[in-house]
Amino acid sequence: MEICVVGAGYVGLTLAACLAKLGHRVVCVEKEPGRLEAIRSGLCPFHEPGLPGLLREGMHGGRLSFTGELVEVAASSEVVFCAVGTPSGRNGEADLSAVEEVVDALSRLRDGNRILALKSTVPVGTTDRVARRLARTRGFHVACNPEFLREGSAVEDFFHPHRTVIGTRSPLAAQRLRALFEPLGAPVLLTDPPTAEMVKYAANAFLATKISFINEIANLCEHVGADLRTVTEGLGLDPRIGPHYLQAGIGFGGSCLPKDVRALAELAREYLVEPVLLEAVLQVNEAQRRRFVDRVEVLLGGLAGKTVAVLGLSFKAGTDDVRESPALAIAERLLARGASVRAHDPVAAQAARQRLPALPCFADPYEATRDTDAVLLLTDWPEYRDLNWHEIRRRVRRPIVVDGRGTGLAQRLVREGFAVFEPGSPLRGRYPISAEETEWFI
Ligand code: UGA
Repeated sequence: MEICVVGAGYVGLTLAACLAKLGHRVVCVEKEPGRLEAIRSGLCPFHEPGLPGLLREGMHGGRLSFTGELVEVAASSEVVFCAVGTPSGRNGEADLSAVEEVVDALSRLRDGNRILALKSTVPVGTTDRVARRLARTRGFHVACNPEFLREGSAVEDFFHPHRTVIGTRSPLAAQRLRALFEPLGAPVLLTDPPTAEMVKYAANAFLATKISFINEIANLCEHVGADLRTVTEGLGLDPRIGPHYLQAGIGFGGSCLPKDVRALAELAREYLVEPVLLEAVLQVNEAQRRRFVDRVEVLLGGLAGKTVAVLGLSFKAGTDDVRESPALAIAERLLARGASVRAHDPVAAQAARQRLPALPCFADPYEATRDTDAVLLLTDWPEYRDLNWHEIRRRVRRPIVVDGRGTGLAQRLVREGFAVFEPGSPLRGRYPISAEETEWFI
């Protein structure tokens, strides 16, 4: 098929490269000239495993190209995917200005049997509104086709989806999108646009709910002396609950979960439905970051004048994305409370520096830990498990590790002589502070 993908962000660029890999001719439209040039010259603008190779393959094979001209490309495409961003507006609602800009441009096209599929996460009702608007020009059949890719494993997720959701009132759009995604072998859920839009929000909100739930349980485990790992295992073995998204720690971040929960809560308020659970999910998530910084402060007997190493800045492993990263928010709070921070991230240091120029980032994780009063593990990078912790023990001023991600390193670190705090467990190892403070935590 001749396909146009609008937006070369995480979703758009992955979609474009993967559809080209499936043998389609894909033109990806990016309006930001710097980004467009970088991609054309062979650079992937963000860290995403497997994507640079697919981009090269698609471009060299002549199936994938990039342009800044939307209308021209859309005119000759059978399917146009809109994959532009929908960030949070002032009250948490989704800001649809980028989607509207695309629809405005497409409304200039008349009389064609093209499909417009909205990949961008849009509030319930948006797809039908766009369809009504474009119906006048008879240029497009409109569908909502939500995306479920995760950053850091987007390519893998594209080729092994759990489901394809198509929400449309157009038989032609349903048939063409089904034909496009059926080869991937996932169940196809064909429905109306509001239902498809709701599936996307509900899925992200549910994942966020699981995370906030386990964080609340973890906080409780710390006080009652229950072992969170076993509690989580006990939950996960029940197929009605499942083992996923039960990793406790400093909470969820990124460009999707926080934004989508806020947008769903705002949508609920618009319809006078009180979003009690969604608000609680956000509150627990915010409190996890505060709680973590408070904990470090008490452990160190104050933050002013102390030095801490922050290992990990991206919102999760596998990406250089620092949008709404809990790690970066924590680093910022530590700085604000007078601590010196020495940070490291295998790929996100540059992005972090742009957001937080005051943050000193080191290329070498060992250097980041030198003469520090505590080492904080804030992103679950596998690299940190493989560090030589014996060497780190020699470098630090005080052997304290506060694990914000439940990396499972505690036993090993205790053997190396560290005192370790991980979510859902009391302090382990020998702790170099007063009995009074220790008691507060156990
Ligand atoms: C999320 C969804 O998982 C995707 O299905 C969806 O397509 C995407 O949003 C989107 O809407 O575009 P993503 O933002 O890439 O994907 O990140 P996740 O892997 O879901 O992780 C989100 C956050 O939750 C991260 O900060 C992660 O560290 C945290 N998390 C995840 C936990 O704290 N505990 C867990 O058990 C799992």
